[in-house]
Amino acid sequence: MNEIIVQGSRIIVDNTLQELESYLPEGKKVIIITEEQIIRHYPTPGKYPVISITGGEENKTLQTIHELTSRLLELEADRDTFLLGIGGGIVCDITGFIASIYMRGCSFGLVPTTLLAQVDAGIGGKNGVNYNGYKNILGVIRQPEFVFCAINMLSTLPRQIFLAGFSEIVKVAVLADPRLFAYLELHAEMARIQEPRILETIIYNAIKIKAAIVNQDEKEKGTRRLLNLGHTFAHAIEKNSHLSHGEAVSIGLCMISRHSCQQGLLPQEDLSRIKRLLERFALPTRTDIPEATLRETIRKDKKREGSFLYWIVPLRIGTCEIQKIKLDFPEHITLIGFMGSGKTTVGTLLATRLRQAFRDTDSVLEKQHGKSIREIFPEIGEPAFRVREKAVLEKLLASDTPSVIACGGGIILDESNRKLLKEKSIVVWLQADPADCVKRLDISSRPLLAQSHHPGETAKTIFEKRVKYYAETASLSIACETLSPTKICNLIYEKINHEL
Ligand SMILES: NC(=O)c1ccc[n+]([C@@H]2O[C@H](COP(=O)([O-])OP(=O)(O)OC[C@H]3O[C@@H](n4cnc5c(N)ncnc54)[C@H](O)[C@@H]3O)[C@@H](O)[C@H]2O)c1
Repeated sequence: MNEIIVQGSRIIVDNTLQELESYLPEGKKVIIITEEQIIRHYPTPGKYPVISITGGEENKTLQTIHELTSRLLELEADRDTFLLGIGGGIVCDITGFIASIYMRGCSFGLVPTTLLAQVDAGIGGKNGVNYNGYKNILGVIRQPEFVFCAINMLSTLPRQIFLAGFSEIVKVAVLADPRLFAYLELHAEMARIQEPRILETIIYNAIKIKAAIVNQDEKEKGTRRLLNLGHTFAHAIEKNSHLSHGEAVSIGLCMISRHSCQQGLLPQEDLSRIKRLLERFALPTRTDIPEATLRETIRKDKKREGSFLYWIVPLRIGTCEIQKIKLDFPEHITLIGFMGSGKTTVGTLLATRLRQAFRDTDSVLEKQHGKSIREIFPEIGEPAFRVREKAVLEKLLASDTPSVIACGGGIILDESNRKLLKEKSIVVWLQADPADCVKRLDISSRPLLAQSHHPGETAKTIFEKRVKYYAETASLSIACETLSPTKICNLIYEKINHEL
């Protein structure tokens, strides 16, 4: 048995589950969270209540968290209850997340049962769920009391799932440990057939590398970014294919290694060794997903900060560096927010600062019709107005030349508009109180308010219907209340170009 400490959490690497019980807290109620699939292979001791969740990435959602919460309440779990997650990365992520938020947090432990979860998903305290197709977008970093890795549990894994875990092991070896890389080269076949001593050495050493990095930088402000080696491509591949996380990481690792080699950084010999080693674990090293699709998905990567992305580049086996790269995709900036929130004023200033054209969906419509919005709106009615507004938005966003676009306040009501805005632009929400907006407006020029006897109340009602859409669409929100247009412009400029 080996033990490693990660941010105060004990990671135990053992051959069997035998010693698990000695790690459970005495005198606490223990509830097990697991999957049917796991129970089938590893019946749980009858003395602990068990909650079985439905596995699969599509179930790593808030819905499962809702169901778990109901079950925990039924079982009268309180803050003193200890949650024990037994399963692959999905069970580990979900257990960590529910334990972090249930009754403002209760303690938990993990028994990762896939190779990927033992060396990666279960280690380091990251947990969370997916939302709307965005992976792990909701979550927190919170360490378990312990992580118990029992190597013989891997024997029941389907072969492909077992092998997928080697991508994360090869990744950490490329990151920081040429000796582990050479050991893998030497013992790949024995590792594949799960020779216990060799597998234990590999798992222990892989965890040690991750532990050292997480111990330096738990919150991913610096060195922990290194662990994302290959992951920028991997996340895009996962989103556009049915490959597992591990398989996608394998391709991502090869793609970034190839890129580094083309840049004259990684030696060709090291690239070949990385590719060969991954192939020995039957892992894919290429994808036929079109590059444009991957680029578009990367543009929306949650790890993106403004127009920049941290890119981990291997320089040789065992050494990588973090590069901060500016995404060279044409980026429109769209401003959304309630009427009167300052989109036109701020947009004009921002476009000047960025040396880009400024567009305003309302002005384009007015130009097309030769009339003001006040006239167009009652003449054609709201549904037809929204159709034309949508066509304007589509046209403006289709341009390859980036521009700053002020959007009509109601543009976000349409789901496909929201999708398009997110896909094609950095969306900035100018947050302002509707009462303040009304004060700034010439109400007679606003068709939705002009007819109302209580424009302030009407504005509030309209705003309340829209606010969730503004929040959901924006990648950047600016609370404008006390700020001047110039200040708001500067703030947006800094956030999207924060290296300047
Ligand atoms: N939190 C993190 O730091 C982190 C890191 C990497 C990946 N992840 C997440 O981990 C997840 C992937 O984890 P995974 O690859 O372990 O997938 P998984 O949890 O879906 O497990 C894969 C399959 O193996 C089955 N299984 C698990 N253990 C078994 C066993 N011992 N015997 C037989 N069958 C078993 C499961 O039922 C499941 O069908 C993804 O959601 C990914 O986002 C999280």
